[in-house]
Amino acid sequence: MARHRKVSWLIPAGLLTLCVIPMLAGVLRLIQLAGGPEQIPADDRFASFPLPLILHIVAACIYLILGAFQFVPRFRRNHPGWHRIAGRVLAAAGLIVAGSAIWMTLFYAMKPGTGTLLYVLRLVFGLAMAVCIILGVTTVRRGDVGAHRAWMIRAYAIGIAAGTQAFTGGIGGALIGTSTLGRDLAMSSAWVINLAVAQWVILHPLGPAPSRRSDDSAELTVHSGARS
Ligand code: HEM
Repeated sequence: MARHRKVSWLIPAGLLTLCVIPMLAGVLRLIQLAGGPEQIPADDRFASFPLPLILHIVAACIYLILGAFQFVPRFRRNHPGWHRIAGRVLAAAGLIVAGSAIWMTLFYAMKPGTGTLLYVLRLVFGLAMAVCIILGVTTVRRGDVGAHRAWMIRAYAIGIAAGTQAFTGGIGGALIGTSTLGRDLAMSSAWVINLAVAQWVILHPLGPAPSRRSDDSAELTVHSGARS
């Protein structure tokens, strides 16, 4: 039991560790855009209209941090009000991350060194993240906690690929070289890896599997306010 509790807290710890690099990059970018010291080089592509990037970074930090704690079953059950309120903030933040990602892909000039594959997959996964969040919300409103859990895990996996990319980008560069296609493949593989892990997590829940209908009393308490 104590081991189970320990393991469940390792999940948010691991998730937060995974997103340290993109969140740090985001904070440094915000400092640079605000006219502070240039810890990362300025990027002219963002200069004339930085709002989507600012929204993207702020929403991503909220999404990743709050989202990590939704993965602790005990915390979720003992603090149902927290799960519900944090879930609403998360859904909004996640939609802003996905929407701004799509906007930036379409309207900022392409980052030098990135190609068509990453361009297209950013649109695909940005859209997929938004769809997963919308399905996560609609399923819980129908009382289908199992489907809600699965869609929210998939949405989080797509978002946190920003952290996985820090590794796949580096490892991929060493293994398949630094051509544009090689770099795009390395970056894009993060979404595939994360979705595969997400699918495994969905099929192997920590603790009792959530019911299809929300007749599980703990989860019902958690989500009953979603219909209010
Ligand atoms: C939720 C986790 C995420 C974090 C922490 C994050 C972080 C960041 C940061 C820090 C930047 C600024 C890069 C710079 O300053 O050069 C950025 C840009 C960007 N992000 Fe994200 N991001 C996340 C999710 C996503 C997702 C899911 C997508 C697409 C599906 C995406 C697409 C983009 C795009 C297109 C840009 C503009 C990049 C460029 O053109 O250089 N992000 N992100």
